[in-house]
Amino acid sequence: MQRILFVCLGNICRSPMAEAIFKHNIKVKKLDHLFDADSAGTHGYHTGSQPDHRTVKVCRDRGITIQHAARIFSADDFHRFDHVIAMDPSNYENLRKLQPANAKGKLSLMRSRDLQRGHANDIPDPYYGDLKDFEEVYELLTKCIHELTAELMNQHS
Ligand code: 4NP
Repeated sequence: MQRILFVCLGNICRSPMAEAIFKHNIKVKKLDHLFDADSAGTHGYHTGSQPDHRTVKVCRDRGITIQHAARIFSADDFHRFDHVIAMDPSNYENLRKLQPANAKGKLSLMRSRDLQRGHANDIPDPYYGDLKDFEEVYELLTKCIHELTAELMNQHS
């Protein structure tokens, strides 16, 4: 089984949404025996909190259940996961500093899977925005997770 970890800053908006969409998609495609996912934040401001109510709403409105309590990323996660996927370049840089030399987990940027991204390389932080920003995050994540799943299936076969 391949294990995927989605990482943002607070682990209440973007990464729990990515985790929920990914888990929903692999369940629908009956690939859930092949992959598992979790999420974490590079900072512990919200440790133990439920996802932001706007993340919950955007997922619930699309039939996606979300169940997660925020946790802080630990360097040990690089040994526990095959893929560590950062939501933006700032998260990526924080993770890179924690990456052990013998890390199993491959570090990447989520947005690198968006083939239409142009110069954009982040899933924009929606925390200080409104519901529309969360819906935009949902659309971007859906696109990237589609590509991610194809990429993982290629590696698997
Ligand atoms: P996330 O969003 O990294 O997508 O979970 C944020 C959540 C909380 C904060 C910033 C971003 N904060 O500053 O508390």
